[in-house]
Amino acid sequence: MILRLRSLLRKAPLGLADIDLNDIIRETVDLLAAIAVARGVELRSSISGVPLPIRGDRIQLQQVTTNLIMNAMDAVSDLPSAERSITLSTARNGSVAELSISDVGPGIPPDKLHDIFTPFFSTKENGMGMGLSITRTIIEAHNGKIIAENQPNGGAVFRVRLSLTS
Ligand SMILES: Nc1ncnc2c1ncn2[C@@H]1O[C@H](COP(=O)(O)OP(=O)(O)O)[C@@H](O)[C@H]1O
Ligand SMILES: [Mg+2]
Repeated sequence: MILRLRSLLRKAPLGLADIDLNDIIRETVDLLAAIAVARGVELRSSISGVPLPIRGDRIQLQQVTTNLIMNAMDAVSDLPSAERSITLSTARNGSVAELSISDVGPGIPPDKLHDIFTPFFSTKENGMGMGLSITRTIIEAHNGKIIAENQPNGGAVFRVRLSLTS
């Protein structure tokens, strides 16, 4: 199934378009706003003041952002509602567009920082363990990179880097 999914994703020609990564983030946050309210999670955005022009597949990049936000919502779900927050930020760094999604949850055990991207790896009772695998496949199809880290003060942060077109 995974191999089929992977080849599907690979062969499906990316619906490449000139897009602003900031727009993808704004659209996804809008799409998920009601879910965030229902789950008592505050979604904070710190969007770069300059455009982040990239070539990419809008729907697939929304899928990436959705997966990362949904995971972050799961990560903060055991905290009291007033503490549940997720921060999305975008920035231009030289020729690279950077997106980071950080949460204030328990973080990721350091020895699992790579395993979490493996198909079927899940620590959730009803987890499929496919979200991060699909996410990484999409980012790599865009010639980008994704990494997971723990923040010094707790919580996980996922960083996505994509080449800017100008
Ligand atoms: N923000 C996060 N904080 C802590 N752990 C995370 C976070 N995001 C992902 N993980 C870990 O990575 C695993 C795999 O995530 P994913 O591939 O999306 O599958 P699923 O969400 O179905 O478990 C999760 O089960 C969890 O252990
Ligand atoms: Mg998930």
